[in-house]
Amino acid sequence: ADNGLAITPPMGWMSWERFRCNTNCTLDPDHCISEKLIMEMADLMVMGGYRDAGYEYVAIDDCWMTHERDKYGRLQADPIRFPSGMKNLSDYIHSRGLKFGIYEDMGLMTCKGYPGSKFYLQMDADTFASWGVDMLKLDCCWAGNDMETGYEVMGFFLNRTGRPIMYSCSFPACQGKKNYILAETLCNTWRNYGDMNDDWDSIGKIIDYYGNDTEHFSKAAGPGHWNDPDELIIGDYGLSAAQEKTQFGMWAMMASPLFMSVDLRVIPKTSAKLLLNKRVIAINQDALGIQGTRIFKVGDLAGWTKPILPKGSYAIAVVNMGHYGEPLYFRRPLKDFGLSNPTGYNLTETFDGGQMGYFNISDQLTLNLEPTGIFLVTAIPY
Ligand code: GLA
Repeated sequence: ADNGLAITPPMGWMSWERFRCNTNCTLDPDHCISEKLIMEMADLMVMGGYRDAGYEYVAIDDCWMTHERDKYGRLQADPIRFPSGMKNLSDYIHSRGLKFGIYEDMGLMTCKGYPGSKFYLQMDADTFASWGVDMLKLDCCWAGNDMETGYEVMGFFLNRTGRPIMYSCSFPACQGKKNYILAETLCNTWRNYGDMNDDWDSIGKIIDYYGNDTEHFSKAAGPGHWNDPDELIIGDYGLSAAQEKTQFGMWAMMASPLFMSVDLRVIPKTSAKLLLNKRVIAINQDALGIQGTRIFKVGDLAGWTKPILPKGSYAIAVVNMGHYGEPLYFRRPLKDFGLSNPTGYNLTETFDGGQMGYFNISDQLTLNLEPTGIFLVTAIPY
């Protein structure tokens, strides 16, 4: 969308993958979807250095509402879990230099059965603007076959509020033939694949899907409009240290929105450090805004490149997509990644910032890649 938002992939925190639809504040007050949880995460985004690293949105996903609209037809936050109300929560988030994201659905109900926006688009857009919402994730459960029109109408009403609201669409994820042209013109980000769960399987599948890129959706990405492979699960239960690096490195390569979904109160130190890695974030946030693509996949070894600044530079990733015990030996010259500068490149390993020195295009990159592991490097023309 050309609303001036998400000029680089948006970054933030989102409740869904880690906290789901836990509404049991009576028995589980620390983990239920509530203003307490959201305020604690906002505080930790500041204190943990995430805000200063670029993570900006604090986004509540499904299950924040009551099951009924009010007598005027307006959506209402659950009064027990959000006793101070959404405007107050929004002010709290803004006072910490962060932005407020909310969730709704284009259909009659949200995916978890709360009131949807169908027949209430204008009213809901106005409600969100009056609460100071900065981002809307509009899901597509129960949205029916005519949902494209609904998303367009909602985009119109969001713009009409006069408040800049980053628009995260889900319709491509609900479509067989995905309308990327509409996604790119209407939305700032859009989901195009299934939900992330807390395991490598989810990550491996989405990396393959983005690598295959059969509908050439990588071309739809650019400043203001991004494919969204779903949240980061770094710091949760399901990934090894190597897999956490692979998710973060590949989300950077794919110019993906970076939404952490993790309990920042108990995040392991190594995971926090990874999420704050400036060099990885710089690849993701590169101003060219080009989504990386897979250049080759031989057996389980996948090679990816992403053009970045300064001009003529690349981020290069090699991923061992296999999970078969032994590390895989990899040896290929830089030119196999499509790099062609006749005077060569200066290479810097990304995670640790180690200088690898000068490589000409016939010099071999030699690696031993552990299962589900990644090697990530930037190459700047020499
Ligand atoms: C769908 C979306 C998820 C999440 C849930 C909420 O499954 O894809 O990201 O928003 O709905 O119910």
